[in-house]
Amino acid sequence: MVHVALLGFGTVGSGTAEVLTANQSMIESYIGDQIHIKYILDLRDFPESPFADRIVHDFNVILNDPEVSLVAEMMGGAHPAYDFSKAALEAGKHVVTSNKEVVATFGIELLETATAHGVRYLFEASVGGGIPVIRPLMNDFNSNSILAIDGILNGTTNYMLTKMKDEGLAFDTVLRDAQKKGYAERNPDADIKGKDAARKIVILAALAYGKLISPEDIYTEGITEISDMATTLATQMGYSIKLIGHTERIADGRVLAMVSPRLIPPSNPLSHITDVFNGILVETDMLGTTMFYGRGAGKLPTAGAVVADILDIARRPAEKNTLSWVAATADDLAPMDDYVSGHFLILSNPDGKIDRDVLRGQFGEIKQVICSDGTVAFITGAMSEKELAKKLEQTDRIVFSHIRLLG
Ligand code: HSE
Repeated sequence: MVHVALLGFGTVGSGTAEVLTANQSMIESYIGDQIHIKYILDLRDFPESPFADRIVHDFNVILNDPEVSLVAEMMGGAHPAYDFSKAALEAGKHVVTSNKEVVATFGIELLETATAHGVRYLFEASVGGGIPVIRPLMNDFNSNSILAIDGILNGTTNYMLTKMKDEGLAFDTVLRDAQKKGYAERNPDADIKGKDAARKIVILAALAYGKLISPEDIYTEGITEISDMATTLATQMGYSIKLIGHTERIADGRVLAMVSPRLIPPSNPLSHITDVFNGILVETDMLGTTMFYGRGAGKLPTAGAVVADILDIARRPAEKNTLSWVAATADDLAPMDDYVSGHFLILSNPDGKIDRDVLRGQFGEIKQVICSDGTVAFITGAMSEKELAKKLEQTDRIVFSHIRLLG
């Protein structure tokens, strides 16, 4: 019997208990053993729950019980989740987690601790919720060199952008709706300001390139500046706007990671990922492009990924951690200024004087133009951030919107 402890009995924690119970017989025949939830750590009591008798309030009960070989951390937040994870690993217990903040901030140290103590630290549920993307990146792409990853990594903002596009609604209206549906938190900053997606893309970049970049060091732009005017004009041009986490290794070996809204053509499969779904495109040298798609959040999908990690360990308890990352230094990071893409711009045009010819003179190649209501919206050819900034300095027009194009 494998005795496990769950840290946190909120959405994902209770979902994990539910998945382990619902699929118990299938799980037992798969691992040839039983998984027993011995403890559940939470501040609250759950007298109505079938697991009421497993609730404990003191982490030391779990830490000091040699029978518990595996801890599933689903508390959220950096502390005490990190502290409990580290202590569990040091005590020789495997740890699995859904906590992207802990993995993105303390991943190097926790992986090292796991290695030092002959146990494993797994985090499939930390990116893409229930979508199996971490394990394929850890194992199945090892024969390939990963060129780039682009992902819709945040379900809440994808829901909001889908609503803005389909129903022509304003940002504030869809935010209230997302909060009412329980997708967005009362304080929605982590989602709408791109911080959640930043934590997820640095985890994917570390898996791809071996270097963990601090989420604070990457260019991060959320969706708070996306206007209904931008959504409407992008739709008229046949494009969608999505919040994308992007990472790539440039020719000299440096890594770029960023989060920003992107204008996506219908030819890119990410443009068709709507509602709370996530999608991740992995581009490699041998396989070309692979897409992972599914439910990136929610109780049972995320819990399913936590349980997959539990079962991985239960099936092969003697397996050691082999994953290790190093911290990215400033020299490892490609500067945002050199990043090249097309640009969707909306400028003021009250006198109607800016037409395609004027734009060509100012910005070079121009792909599409819509002039309406005192504005001009257009898409430029590919140019670096630096080049664009220089060109925008030379215009006397107000920039209402700037969204990078994703090819
Ligand atoms: N707030 C996150 C999202 C939850 O909306 O995707 C899953 O990480």
